[in-house]
Amino acid sequence: MNENETRIVIAGGSGFLGRALAAHFVKKGCEVVILTRSPGTTEQAVREVAWDAHSLGPWQQELEGAAAVVNLTGKSVNCRYHARNRREILNSRTNSTRVLGKAIGRCANPPKVWLNASTATIYKHTFGPAWDEDGKIEPTPEAKDAFSLEVANAWERVFEEAQTPGTRKVALRTAMVLGMGQNSVFPALRRLARMGLGGKMGTGRQFVSWIHEADFCRAVEWLLEHNDLDGIVNVAAPNPLPNHEMMRTLRQVCRVQVGLPAATWMLEAGALFLRTETELIIKSRRVVPGRLLKSGFRFSFPAIRAAFEDLRT
Ligand SMILES: NC(=O)c1ccc[n+]([C@@H]2O[C@H](COP(=O)([O-])OP(=O)(O)OC[C@H]3O[C@@H](n4cnc5c(N)ncnc54)[C@H](OP(=O)(O)O)[C@@H]3O)[C@@H](O)[C@H]2O)c1
Repeated sequence: MNENETRIVIAGGSGFLGRALAAHFVKKGCEVVILTRSPGTTEQAVREVAWDAHSLGPWQQELEGAAAVVNLTGKSVNCRYHARNRREILNSRTNSTRVLGKAIGRCANPPKVWLNASTATIYKHTFGPAWDEDGKIEPTPEAKDAFSLEVANAWERVFEEAQTPGTRKVALRTAMVLGMGQNSVFPALRRLARMGLGGKMGTGRQFVSWIHEADFCRAVEWLLEHNDLDGIVNVAAPNPLPNHEMMRTLRQVCRVQVGLPAATWMLEAGALFLRTETELIIKSRRVVPGRLLKSGFRFSFPAIRAAFEDLRT
């Protein structure tokens, strides 16, 4: 994608993934517009436009004739899941998706494609075979990750229900993105490894699905360009691996020999201290990018060792 004057609107684009995507598309010569609740905080060569992420407003004009809209809005899930945070995690995703659908539906010249963030966490906890887009997703109310499943399903439902007949829609079921930006988990993992605390987490058997940030940006570009791809797409590297293998690879890449393991009870205590949830660490996610691979997408970082080595410095 390198057409000049191609406008890409990134809602919630001031965060980790938005900044990476904005830089990627600015480099390609695109005009990038970020919808944010706090304009003036992004130092990149992008235009920031104010919105409140839940009601229509002057920001709608940015969608007219845009090549693409990418919605990355959502309160970070890296927090304790008490009632207020739960509400905000859910509402920030569903409200932003709903209002974007309304705005696109009202466009005289609607965007060609709308990519909406979703999550690979939507698939059920599994130690079984890897799941592509046909994997199981039904929420089980008794599951430890019931809240995440509920959010992911509600988020995708609102997206699916949006009436945008002139605009192709793709839900990005994205795995953990490894990058160096703020809010990426990689710097925290590397810090743990360097402190000698990079052992397995919990049993270490749980699968980790991941993708390098460069491949995330390339996959988004691929999805913008391939008109035949719509609906659900897994955005994950093709080689998810058990947590103990991931941590061992990280220790090797960081050249650290010792890696104290963290038992599940330690993770629970640590999570309380760090004001996050252990579910983010101990859920087994084994997700593969069936549709991306079938469409011919090639990953620059299919294996985690090369991804870690690229990000190590
Ligand atoms: N990073 C990952 O590994 C990963 C993996 C799978 C899925 N995802 C999903 O991809 C999306 C982007 O991820 P990210 O890592 O870039 O997230 P991020 O760094 O937290 O950025 C999300 C953006 O959403 C906006 N936002 C935050 N709280 C909000 C609220 N309460 N109401 C409305 N807007 C709010 C913020 O924009 P303003 O403050 O500028 O308005 C923020 O910059 C998220 O929906 C996330 O769930 C991420």
